[in-house]
Amino acid sequence: MKHLGILLSGRGSNFLAIADAMDRGQIEGADISIVISNRAEAAGIAAARARGLATQVIEARGRKRAEQDAEIVACLREHGVELVCLAGYMRLLSPEFIAAFPNAILNIHPSLLPSFPGLDAQAQALAYGVGISGCTVHFVDEQLDHGVIVLQRAVPVLQGDDEEALSARILEQEHLAYPEAISRVLSGNYAIVDRRYVARASQNAALIEEAK
Ligand code: GAR
Repeated sequence: MKHLGILLSGRGSNFLAIADAMDRGQIEGADISIVISNRAEAAGIAAARARGLATQVIEARGRKRAEQDAEIVACLREHGVELVCLAGYMRLLSPEFIAAFPNAILNIHPSLLPSFPGLDAQAQALAYGVGISGCTVHFVDEQLDHGVIVLQRAVPVLQGDDEEALSARILEQEHLAYPEAISRVLSGNYAIVDRRYVARASQNAALIEEAK
């Protein structure tokens, strides 16, 4: 059994989509061993508790990021976590945190990266006037919303969309994308070639060999 650790800061709908997909058997051989929030009042942490999952609140409380992250890493280790999933976790990770879980931290972002990283991605997309947006699941590296992309799902931006309407359309795709990406990563059936995620399908074997 592979153990997942979820980090969240708010509503927790992506966490719930992952938990539901697991309950439906769509993420095989994995469980959620700990849900951590940096905010005690996050609805997501209450939802995790209600599902009977182990939870922990680890707040910043004016501490240095490295100190808070060390506590989070210790908690993840204590629960045997192999894959960390950021699900609306609105804090940057320290380099020490990232180094503690090499290629084993995923994030979901509500835009088609590299467009519109950072806060309010949906509002950024509307303000820019793009016709297509979506969501990205990616590995986390030291740069904001930057790591290797595991998968993306696109949605149209419609005339008359406001931030709420576009966010809802993207969120629906996030809830499909995140479980699928977790499943792919847990299968181990991929290689990272330069900064590309390459599935180990037969047509990619040569590409993967070449990169070794
Ligand atoms: C989601 O839309 C997620 O993509 C976004 O926060 C929301 C969390 O919702 N994350 C980011 O913007 C990270 N840069 P949720 O708490 O309902 O999963």
